[in-house]
Amino acid sequence: MAKTNDEQFKNVISHAKEYGFVFQSSEIYDGLSAVYDYGQLGSELKNNIKAYWWKAMVQMHENIVGIDSAIFMHPKVWKASGHVDGFNDPMIDNKDSKKRYRADQLLEDKITKYEKEGKTDKAAKLQSDMDAALTGENLSELKNLIEEHGIACPISGTKNWTDVRQFNLMFSTQFGAMAEGSDEVYLRPETAQGIFVNFLNVQKSGRMKIPFGIAQIGKAFRNEVIARQFIMRMREFEQMEMQFFVRPGEDKKWFDYWKIARLKWHQALGTPENKYRFHDHVKLAHYANAATDIEFEFPFGFKEVEGIHSRTDFDLKQHEQFSGKKMQYFDNDLNEEGKPFGNYVPYVIETSIGLDRMFLLTLINAFEEQDLSTEEKQDSRTLLRLHPALAPIKVAIFPLTKKDGLPEKAKEIMDTLKFDFNCMYEEKDAIGKRYRRQDAIGTPFCVTVDHQSLEDNTVTIRHRDSMEQERVAIADLEKIIANKVSWKNLLA
Ligand code: GAP
Repeated sequence: MAKTNDEQFKNVISHAKEYGFVFQSSEIYDGLSAVYDYGQLGSELKNNIKAYWWKAMVQMHENIVGIDSAIFMHPKVWKASGHVDGFNDPMIDNKDSKKRYRADQLLEDKITKYEKEGKTDKAAKLQSDMDAALTGENLSELKNLIEEHGIACPISGTKNWTDVRQFNLMFSTQFGAMAEGSDEVYLRPETAQGIFVNFLNVQKSGRMKIPFGIAQIGKAFRNEVIARQFIMRMREFEQMEMQFFVRPGEDKKWFDYWKIARLKWHQALGTPENKYRFHDHVKLAHYANAATDIEFEFPFGFKEVEGIHSRTDFDLKQHEQFSGKKMQYFDNDLNEEGKPFGNYVPYVIETSIGLDRMFLLTLINAFEEQDLSTEEKQDSRTLLRLHPALAPIKVAIFPLTKKDGLPEKAKEIMDTLKFDFNCMYEEKDAIGKRYRRQDAIGTPFCVTVDHQSLEDNTVTIRHRDSMEQERVAIADLEKIIANKVSWKNLLA
């Protein structure tokens, strides 16, 4: 019987734990809500996703450079960016269950439910009413919408709600050893501000000419009102962000460019096209003149993975005002009228993707439970169809048996391949069992060393997806594997 989305998602979560991809943080103390640790294979997969992004965004662009700014920043940064006053989520409590919810999340769940029921008009209307209430920070309207659409608490089942209130999402801590006189600092809620404050440092030291971009990957922290769906909404997570600085007036062109470029980056991984969609924002934040989300169809509905935002000159101007330092660029190129542009504050197009959401998307996409039963016997395998470039282990090397010099030969092969590829050596269990273990962690190649290998320096190489095996010369292994795991397959 076909599994429901819910069952499949549960299977992905337990698979992630069983094979060392993701663990609950501090599990032996019953965990810390919405905080997760990446295990031995999870950290490899995460690193490969980062590398794919960094290659595509930084190394493939002559006009984009990468930085690594500190998590702690001067407290005024967050005043200037608007986070101290405005980085809030609207929350609502159910008086009977005493459970707290994000008002917009309750409404979004209702929208997803309407969509699933085919009530697309109702879903669209609720979406636009909600967007209007959020943009206008109209908290009483949010409560009206919850009541109007008959939303009940999933725990108590009642509609006995408090008023909607704002809740600031930033974590704060004390800076300096002295309790008295020490300053309150924040754990950054986005990596972007580390880029904005370094805009001129990078531009001048790197002699960057507009248009150019600054990218970074790093941790961000948000005290989410509710956190759920595994690593979808976490309190500590990672972002991969890029700010692209452009001439005023060229922002629309570059917004369209990055929208397409970013979707292409996702699709290159081979994800079916209908799994992605854009969600263009109709109501915009006060500093944005265009914004869109790239959404992926998770088992719990279409949800945002990445945002592309045209942020105007808002952030740089705010930092000019709060720091008293000029954030301007001298453009000595000519405009269409043949005049130098002179000084201006650049406009910014931002691409911002959650690394953990991308990780979850990648696992969900790759996870497959295959029925291999024949008339003679029942059989199945669990498979991660990861793109070879992202797979945590590229090649597993097995001696057919533990004797006759086969382990030594297998290790010899491993010693030549391990410089270029993450390899795993395994000699325990029957060969079929070893293949299945590698299928379950997404290893694209298994190399088996047998007695013939000792005579003619050939091995069998087994391909994960097709399960086909071929006999190849040991001397050719490096080329065969390199060809499949190369970033060229994704980026060329
Ligand atoms: N600088 C813009 C910015 O931070 P955002 O839409 O708030 O924009 C960007 O966040 C991306 O970060 C989201 O698309 C999502 O993938 C990821 N993200 C945001 N909050 C998250 C959370 N609590 N847990 C995991 N990922 C999150």
